[in-house]
Amino acid sequence: MSSYTEKFEKMRVAGKLAAQTLDMLTDNVKEGVSTDQIDKLGYEFIRDNGGYSAPQFYRGFKKSLCTSLNHVVCHGIPGDRVLRDGDAINIDVTAIVDHHYGDTSRMFCVGETSIKVNNLIDATYNSMMSAIKILKPGLKLGDVGYTIQSYVEEKGYSVVRDFCGHGISTIFHEPPNVLHYGSKNSGMELRPGMTFTIEPMINSGKFQTKMLNDGWTAVTKDKSLSAQFEHTVGISENGYEIFTESAKGYTKPPYK
Ligand code: MF3
Ligand code: CO
Ligand code: CO
Repeated sequence: MSSYTEKFEKMRVAGKLAAQTLDMLTDNVKEGVSTDQIDKLGYEFIRDNGGYSAPQFYRGFKKSLCTSLNHVVCHGIPGDRVLRDGDAINIDVTAIVDHHYGDTSRMFCVGETSIKVNNLIDATYNSMMSAIKILKPGLKLGDVGYTIQSYVEEKGYSVVRDFCGHGISTIFHEPPNVLHYGSKNSGMELRPGMTFTIEPMINSGKFQTKMLNDGWTAVTKDKSLSAQFEHTVGISENGYEIFTESAKGYTKPPYK
């Protein structure tokens, strides 16, 4: 038994609850539902299944998950905004179970979304997975960023610089910063037992972001569309483990 066996067991439990929360929300993400209703459903599900929602009271956030619509890059605050046909929304859930954190997000499409947004969502998911698939001890974090950046830029998209993935275990956000852009063979070397998120935010336009007056909501400066997915992962002896995979096999939309 390695030194991080127990930590990984707890990360699995927290990650599973976060992913299950997104699974549960899937059928509720539809026209006419408000982001506050989504927040309430998520809050209750996590509470009823033995966890806590990390965003609640996190630096004054107040809601229990993030809902980022269309040109919102991340940290959208649930409110009375009602989902409409054609909306694309990222829902980001972080559950705490037994002091460990599971952090995951997915994109959801409301009604019929444009080909433009569907393609962006596809590329964003694929970029995250292509970076996850190369994870193993000895790899450097710069390769994670490089893999994501080269994949999406080739399609004409841009990588958000103002937010990044993060170490995560018994603390929500801890070192290292996991940048979603970078150069090969640079940065910190991965070791067995490390746990962190990969959560690329990809824009259809330029990468610059702007913060709204609420102090949380980040939007694209040029009002272009933005998409994001997030998994919490761990480095094992010879590869990686995803702690936040869907038990229902939900990866990217359409979820069937
Ligand atoms: N879940 C986000 C992340 O991926 C953090 C949200 S913090 C909040 O790191 F306060 F905005 F909820
Ligand atoms: Co995160
Ligand atoms: Co998150």
